[in-house]
Amino acid sequence: MKFFVDTADLAEIRDLAATGLLDGVTTNPSLIAKSGRNMLDVIAEICDVVPGPVSAEVTATDVETMLAEAEVLSSVASNVAIKVPLTPNGLKTCKTLRDRDILVNVTLCFSAAQAVLAAKAGASFISPFVGRLDDIGLRGLDLIEEIVDIYNQYDNFETEVLVASIRGPAHVIDSARVGAHVATVPPNVLRQLYQHPLTEKGLDAFLKDWESTGQSILEQANQRKDAAE
Ligand code: G3P
Repeated sequence: MKFFVDTADLAEIRDLAATGLLDGVTTNPSLIAKSGRNMLDVIAEICDVVPGPVSAEVTATDVETMLAEAEVLSSVASNVAIKVPLTPNGLKTCKTLRDRDILVNVTLCFSAAQAVLAAKAGASFISPFVGRLDDIGLRGLDLIEEIVDIYNQYDNFETEVLVASIRGPAHVIDSARVGAHVATVPPNVLRQLYQHPLTEKGLDAFLKDWESTGQSILEQANQRKDAAE
Protein backbone atom coordinates (compact mmCIF):
# COMPACT_ATOMS: atom_id res chain seq x y z
CA MET A 1 0.00 0.00 0.00
CA LYS A 2 1.32 3.48 -0.81
CA PHE A 3 1.12 6.19 1.85
CA PHE A 4 0.48 9.78 0.79
CA VAL A 5 0.18 12.56 3.34
CA ASP A 6 -2.89 14.78 3.11
CA THR A 7 -1.66 18.28 3.92
CA ALA A 8 -0.09 21.44 2.50
CA ASP A 9 1.92 22.06 5.67
CA LEU A 10 5.57 21.95 4.60
CA ALA A 11 6.89 21.38 8.12
CA GLU A 12 4.69 18.30 8.50
CA ILE A 13 5.64 17.07 5.03
CA ARG A 14 9.38 17.50 5.66
CA ASP A 15 9.10 15.71 9.02
CA LEU A 16 7.19 12.75 7.60
CA ALA A 17 9.27 12.58 4.39
CA ALA A 18 12.27 11.94 6.66
CA THR A 19 10.65 8.63 7.72
CA GLY A 20 11.25 7.31 4.19
CA LEU A 21 7.67 6.01 4.13
CA LEU A 22 6.06 8.84 2.14
CA ASP A 23 5.05 7.94 -1.44
CA GLY A 24 3.24 11.18 -2.30
CA VAL A 25 1.19 14.15 -1.12
CA THR A 26 -2.39 15.28 -1.67
CA THR A 27 -3.61 18.84 -1.29
CA ASN A 28 -6.94 20.47 -2.01
CA PRO A 29 -8.17 24.10 -2.02
CA SER A 30 -9.12 23.90 1.70
CA LEU A 31 -5.66 22.61 2.66
CA ILE A 32 -3.99 25.31 0.55
CA ALA A 33 -6.18 27.95 2.22
CA LYS A 34 -5.21 26.51 5.63
CA SER A 35 -1.52 26.90 4.72
CA GLY A 36 -2.04 30.64 4.27
CA ARG A 37 0.45 30.62 1.39
CA ASN A 38 0.56 31.14 -2.36
CA MET A 39 -0.55 27.88 -4.01
CA LEU A 40 2.15 27.71 -6.69
CA ASP A 41 4.88 28.33 -4.10
CA VAL A 42 3.52 25.61 -1.79
CA ILE A 43 3.17 23.04 -4.56
CA ALA A 44 6.69 23.79 -5.83
CA GLU A 45 8.15 23.35 -2.34
CA ILE A 46 6.23 20.12 -1.73
CA CYS A 47 7.43 18.71 -5.07
CA ASP A 48 11.01 19.49 -4.04
CA VAL A 49 10.58 17.52 -0.81
CA VAL A 50 8.57 14.51 -2.04
CA PRO A 51 9.46 12.93 -5.42
CA GLY A 52 6.20 10.98 -5.64
CA PRO A 53 2.88 12.28 -7.03
CA VAL A 54 1.81 15.62 -5.50
CA SER A 55 -1.87 16.36 -6.07
CA ALA A 56 -2.72 19.99 -6.87
CA GLU A 57 -6.42 20.72 -7.46
CA VAL A 58 -7.84 22.96 -10.15
CA THR A 59 -10.35 25.52 -8.88
CA ALA A 60 -12.32 26.20 -12.06
CA THR A 61 -15.44 24.25 -13.01
CA ASP A 62 -15.43 24.68 -16.79
CA VAL A 63 -13.21 22.53 -19.02
CA GLU A 64 -11.34 25.36 -20.75
CA THR A 65 -10.27 27.03 -17.51
CA MET A 66 -9.55 23.72 -15.76
CA LEU A 67 -7.19 22.84 -18.62
CA ALA A 68 -5.54 26.27 -18.40
CA GLU A 69 -5.07 25.86 -14.65
CA ALA A 70 -3.79 22.33 -15.14
CA GLU A 71 -1.19 23.61 -17.60
CA VAL A 72 0.04 26.09 -15.00
CA LEU A 73 0.11 23.51 -12.21
CA SER A 74 1.82 20.87 -14.38
CA SER A 75 4.55 23.38 -15.25
CA VAL A 76 5.47 23.70 -11.56
CA ALA A 77 7.10 20.25 -11.36
CA SER A 78 7.13 16.93 -13.19
CA ASN A 79 5.58 15.07 -10.23
CA VAL A 80 2.43 17.20 -10.03
CA ALA A 81 -0.79 15.19 -10.31
CA ILE A 82 -3.75 17.33 -11.35
CA LYS A 83 -6.77 16.95 -9.10
CA VAL A 84 -10.16 17.42 -10.74
CA PRO A 85 -13.63 17.05 -9.19
CA LEU A 86 -15.87 14.14 -10.16
CA THR A 87 -18.15 16.17 -12.41
CA PRO A 88 -18.86 15.86 -16.17
CA ASN A 89 -16.43 18.71 -16.86
CA GLY A 90 -13.93 17.26 -14.40
CA LEU A 91 -13.93 13.94 -16.25
CA LYS A 92 -13.71 15.63 -19.68
CA THR A 93 -10.67 17.47 -18.35
CA CYS A 94 -9.30 14.22 -16.92
CA LYS A 95 -9.53 12.48 -20.29
CA THR A 96 -7.77 15.34 -22.10
CA LEU A 97 -5.00 15.51 -19.51
CA ARG A 98 -4.49 11.75 -19.59
CA ASP A 99 -4.24 11.89 -23.38
CA ARG A 100 -1.36 14.31 -22.69
CA ASP A 101 0.17 11.75 -20.25
CA ILE A 102 -0.45 14.03 -17.25
CA LEU A 103 -1.23 12.34 -13.92
CA VAL A 104 -4.81 12.97 -12.81
CA ASN A 105 -6.39 12.38 -9.40
CA VAL A 106 -10.21 12.48 -9.62
CA THR A 107 -11.50 13.65 -6.25
CA LEU A 108 -14.78 13.98 -4.34
CA CYS A 109 -15.87 10.44 -5.22
CA PHE A 110 -18.80 9.08 -3.18
CA SER A 111 -20.17 6.21 -5.28
CA ALA A 112 -19.03 3.19 -7.28
CA ALA A 113 -20.81 4.58 -10.34
CA GLN A 114 -18.65 7.71 -10.12
CA ALA A 115 -15.54 5.54 -9.73
CA VAL A 116 -16.39 3.55 -12.89
CA LEU A 117 -16.73 6.80 -14.85
CA ALA A 118 -13.37 8.03 -13.52
CA ALA A 119 -11.67 4.79 -14.56
CA LYS A 120 -13.23 5.08 -18.02
CA ALA A 121 -11.87 8.64 -18.21
CA GLY A 122 -8.42 7.17 -17.58
CA ALA A 123 -7.88 8.63 -14.11
CA SER A 124 -4.51 7.80 -12.57
CA PHE A 125 -6.12 7.89 -9.10
CA ILE A 126 -9.69 7.93 -7.78
CA SER A 127 -10.22 9.54 -4.37
CA PRO A 128 -13.27 8.17 -2.56
CA PHE A 129 -13.87 10.16 0.66
CA VAL A 130 -14.32 7.46 3.26
CA GLY A 131 -14.59 9.78 6.29
CA ARG A 132 -17.28 12.01 4.84
CA LEU A 133 -19.46 8.95 4.13
CA ASP A 134 -18.96 7.79 7.73
CA ASP A 135 -19.86 11.32 8.83
CA ILE A 136 -23.40 10.86 7.39
CA GLY A 137 -23.88 7.41 8.91
CA LEU A 138 -22.81 5.27 5.97
CA ARG A 139 -19.87 2.81 6.04
CA GLY A 140 -17.27 4.44 3.81
CA LEU A 141 -15.20 1.26 3.68
CA ASP A 142 -18.03 -0.49 1.87
CA LEU A 143 -17.48 1.92 -1.02
CA ILE A 144 -13.72 1.26 -1.03
CA GLU A 145 -14.31 -2.49 -1.15
CA GLU A 146 -16.91 -2.09 -3.90
CA ILE A 147 -14.62 0.04 -6.08
CA VAL A 148 -11.64 -2.31 -5.65
CA ASP A 149 -13.83 -5.30 -6.54
CA ILE A 150 -15.19 -3.59 -9.67
CA TYR A 151 -11.77 -2.37 -10.83
CA ASN A 152 -10.35 -5.86 -10.41
CA GLN A 153 -12.84 -7.16 -12.99
CA TYR A 154 -11.30 -5.10 -15.83
CA ASP A 155 -7.66 -5.36 -16.97
CA ASN A 156 -8.00 -2.02 -18.82
CA PHE A 157 -8.92 -0.15 -15.64
CA GLU A 158 -5.52 1.19 -14.52
CA THR A 159 -6.89 3.67 -11.98
CA GLU A 160 -5.46 3.34 -8.47
CA VAL A 161 -7.87 3.59 -5.53
CA LEU A 162 -6.54 6.43 -3.35
CA VAL A 163 -8.53 6.41 -0.11
CA ALA A 164 -9.08 9.96 1.15
CA SER A 165 -10.87 11.70 4.01
CA ILE A 166 -9.23 9.27 6.43
CA ARG A 167 -10.17 9.83 10.08
CA GLY A 168 -7.95 7.28 11.87
CA PRO A 169 -5.69 4.18 11.65
CA ALA A 170 -8.71 1.88 11.23
CA HIS A 171 -9.51 3.49 7.88
CA VAL A 172 -5.94 2.82 6.73
CA ILE A 173 -5.91 -0.82 7.85
CA ASP A 174 -9.41 -1.57 6.60
CA SER A 175 -8.51 0.00 3.24
CA ALA A 176 -5.37 -2.15 3.06
CA ARG A 177 -7.39 -5.25 3.87
CA VAL A 178 -9.66 -4.68 0.86
CA GLY A 179 -6.75 -3.95 -1.47
CA ALA A 180 -6.85 -0.17 -1.88
CA HIS A 181 -3.64 1.01 -3.61
CA VAL A 182 -3.06 4.26 -1.72
CA ALA A 183 -4.12 5.87 1.55
CA THR A 184 -3.73 9.63 1.81
CA VAL A 185 -3.41 10.21 5.52
CA PRO A 186 -3.51 13.35 7.70
CA PRO A 187 -0.12 13.83 9.44
CA ASN A 188 -1.48 13.05 12.91
CA VAL A 189 -3.04 9.80 11.71
CA LEU A 190 0.17 8.78 9.97
CA ARG A 191 2.00 9.17 13.28
CA GLN A 192 -0.72 7.20 15.10
CA LEU A 193 0.10 4.19 12.89
CA TYR A 194 3.41 3.77 14.73
CA GLN A 195 1.93 3.95 18.20
CA HIS A 196 0.99 1.09 20.52
CA PRO A 197 1.24 1.20 24.33
CA LEU A 198 2.69 -2.33 24.47
CA THR A 199 5.51 -1.31 22.12
CA GLU A 200 6.41 1.63 24.35
CA LYS A 201 6.09 -0.52 27.50
CA GLY A 202 8.14 -3.34 26.01
CA LEU A 203 10.92 -1.01 24.83
CA ASP A 204 11.09 0.66 28.25
CA ALA A 205 11.45 -2.79 29.87
CA PHE A 206 14.18 -3.89 27.39
CA LEU A 207 16.18 -0.71 27.95
CA LYS A 208 15.78 -0.87 31.73
CA ASP A 209 17.09 -4.46 31.78
CA TRP A 210 19.89 -3.54 29.38
CA GLU A 211 20.88 -0.57 31.55
CA SER A 212 21.19 -2.93 34.53
CA THR A 213 23.97 -4.81 32.68
CA GLY A 214 26.12 -1.70 32.42
CA GLN A 215 27.08 -2.85 28.96
CA SER A 216 27.53 -0.77 25.80
CA ILE A 217 27.56 -2.34 22.33
CA LEU A 218 29.84 0.36 20.91
CA GLU A 219 32.23 0.22 23.86
CA GLN A 220 32.49 -3.56 23.45
CA ALA A 221 33.20 -3.09 19.74
CA ASN A 222 36.00 -0.63 20.53
CA GLN A 223 37.44 -2.98 23.18
CA ARG A 224 37.44 -5.87 20.67
CA LYS A 225 39.05 -3.63 18.06
CA ASP A 226 41.76 -2.51 20.49
CA ALA A 227 42.42 -6.14 21.52
CA ALA A 228 42.79 -7.18 17.89
CA GLU A 229 45.39 -4.43 17.14
O1 G3P B 1 -7.89 14.93 0.12
C1 G3P B 1 -9.23 14.97 0.53
C2 G3P B 1 -9.28 15.14 2.01
O2 G3P B 1 -8.45 16.22 2.38
C3 G3P B 1 -10.68 15.40 2.53
O3 G3P B 1 -10.63 15.10 3.88
O4 G3P B 1 -11.26 15.39 6.27
O5 G3P B 1 -11.87 17.16 4.56
O6 G3P B 1 -13.02 14.93 4.55
P1 G3P B 1 -11.75 15.69 4.86
